[in-house]
Amino acid sequence: MGREFNELFDQWSHSYDNTVSGKDPEYEEVFLHYDEILSKVADSSMGTVVEFGVGTGNLTNKLMKRRLTVFGMEPSEGMRKIAQEKLPDVRIFDGDFLNFPNVSESIDTFVSTYAFHHLTDKEKEIAIGKYSKLLKEGGRVVFADTVFATEEAKRGMIQDAKGKGYNRLAEDLEREYYTTISVLQDLFNQNSFSVTFTKLNPFVWLIDAKKIK
Ligand SMILES: C[S@@+](CC[C@H](N)C(=O)[O-])C[C@H]1O[C@@H](n2cnc3c(N)ncnc32)[C@H](O)[C@@H]1O
Repeated sequence: MGREFNELFDQWSHSYDNTVSGKDPEYEEVFLHYDEILSKVADSSMGTVVEFGVGTGNLTNKLMKRRLTVFGMEPSEGMRKIAQEKLPDVRIFDGDFLNFPNVSESIDTFVSTYAFHHLTDKEKEIAIGKYSKLLKEGGRVVFADTVFATEEAKRGMIQDAKGKGYNRLAEDLEREYYTTISVLQDLFNQNSFSVTFTKLNPFVWLIDAKKIK
C-alpha cells in the first residue's frame, strides 16, 4: 500500500538531481524554484522532524543545516542509497507515509516535498489521522507538493502538457494521485489541524498544517 512507485524511483534515482535542476524540459515548471521550495519547508520545521520520501536527500540536507533532529523515511532502496552516501550522518529508514519505524522521541514536525501524491486520497486520510495522533498541540505537518485548485484546473494542466508534447508529464499527472486543495483542506480540518495553502510555482503548493487541539 503506497509503495507501488518503488521500481520507478529506483530507476530514476541516478538522474533525479539532473531533473530537479531543470535539465528535463518536461519537468522544468514542476521543479521551478525547487531550492526555494525546499528551503521554505525547512524554515517552517522545528524540533524533531520526520521526513517522508527523502529521495536524494536535498530537503534532508537543509533540515540538518538548521540543526534539527531528522529521521528520514524512504521506501526506494536506490534513493536511500544515494541519500545515505550524500549524508552519511543522517538516519534514513526503509519507511513510508503510512508505515514507518518508531523514532522513540516525540515528533514536532512531519515534512515532505514532492511525494504526498503517491498516496490515494483514502491513504492520505489515514496518514493525516496518524500524524494528528502523534503530534501535540502546535505540532506541524509541512508538505510541498503538486496540488490543483480544482479538478477543472487539473484537467487543464493535463491538456496543456499533452498540447506541448510532454507525454511523460501528462501520463504522470494521470497515473499518480494528485489531489485538490479542498480535499486536503477537509482532511486536515477533520483531524484537528488548521491549514494554509500557498502556491509556489505552476504546480506546487506549500501545505502548512498546525495541530490545534
Ligand atoms: C519526486 S521524489 C521527491 C524526493 C525529495 N523529497 C525531493 O523533494 O527532491 C518522490 C520520493 O517519494 C518517494 N515515495 C514514493 N512513494 C512513497 C510513499 N508511499 N511514502 C514515502 N515516500 C514515497 C519516492 O521513492 C521518491 O524518493
